[in-house]
This record gives sequence, structure tokens and C-alpha cells, in this order.
Amino acid sequence: MLSRKAPREQFEELKKIETVYFVKIKKRERRSRMIKVLFVCLGNICRSPMGEFILKDLVKKEGIKAQFEIASCGTSSEELGNPVYYLAKEKLIEHGISCENKVARKITKEDIEYYDYILTMETSNRKAIERIYGKSEKIYRLLDFTSKPKDIEDPWYTRDFDTAYEEILEGCKEFLRYVMN
Ligand code: 4NP
Repeated sequence: MLSRKAPREQFEELKKIETVYFVKIKKRERRSRMIKVLFVCLGNICRSPMGEFILKDLVKKEGIKAQFEIASCGTSSEELGNPVYYLAKEKLIEHGISCENKVARKITKEDIEYYDYILTMETSNRKAIERIYGKSEKIYRLLDFTSKPKDIEDPWYTRDFDTAYEEILEGCKEFLRYVMN
């Protein structure tokens, strides 16, 4: 509400309100044009955060960061609120990638509506999502973008974080090639 002020002050107040709304609308427009990517695994403490931060790193290096919104989540509640598993974090750091402040969260119906690409790590992730929210053509398996389509085995169980890293990196590179062409 405009206060009882002199016309000049009222004008300044209106200008401020207009600027705030203009910035908000521009932000919303920019967001709607962005390519929105959500990585999904089971726990959201190993593979999907690796995907999130590897892709963030790739788009930054390519100078196309502003065109992307990238996040990750899990299909289970097991690790809710937990940070990235220390071995996944160490692997990322080894490659100069930080995942600071990331905490695990579970996928929601709004995620499926909001994101353009839901990139899963293995077939069971798709099944888990579709069991709750129904089928969606936005769901892809990450390595289906590569010449070696397969599930990415869970390093939480295999303890092989090198292979997980290399496969996720390859998947992210090929996904990027796919969306940018
Ligand atoms: P992620 O690995 O799905 O790659 O995050 C897992 C981490 C934790 C558990 C399962 C998978 N867990 O059951 O706690």
C-alpha cells in the first residue's frame, strides 16, 4: 500500500515497486528458459550428487552455466538431510569439484513437474519414481546417452568410487552433447 507521502516520494515508491516486480518477472522468464536437470539415485549421498556437481563443473567450464539449473535427490528417505558420503566427496575433491552444503533430499511430485530432464543412475530409480508418481517421459537413465548403456552400480555397495566417477562423467558429457545439439 502507498503511504500518505508527497507526490515525488509516492512516485519514487512506485518506481521501487515496479523495479522489484520487473526483476522478479525477468528472473522467472530466465528460469523458464533454462534447461532444468535433476539427477536421481537411491540415497542422494553418492551417485546423484556426483552427477549434480560434475555437470555443474562441466557447464561452468564450458561457459554455459547460466543456461542450466541442476540439482539432485533420492528416491528413499534413508539419508534425508545427510551430507554427501565422504568417499564420494573425496572423489569429487580429487577432481577439483566441491559439493559443499549439499544435503540429501527425497524426490517430490513438484520435481517431476518442474525439471525437464530427470537423469537416473539405474533402472530401479525409474521404477521407484514411477511407482509413486506414475510414468513420465522426462525420466532417462544417464548412461543411455553413452555408447555403453547400462546401470551405474552403487558405489555405496561396490566401494568402487573411481568407476562410478568415470561413468557419471562420461554420462554427463554425452548428456551435455545431446542437449546442446
Ligand atoms: P546412492 O547410494 O543411491 O548412490 O546415494 C546409497 C547410499 C546409501 C544407501 C543406499 C544407496 N542407504 O541405503 O543408506
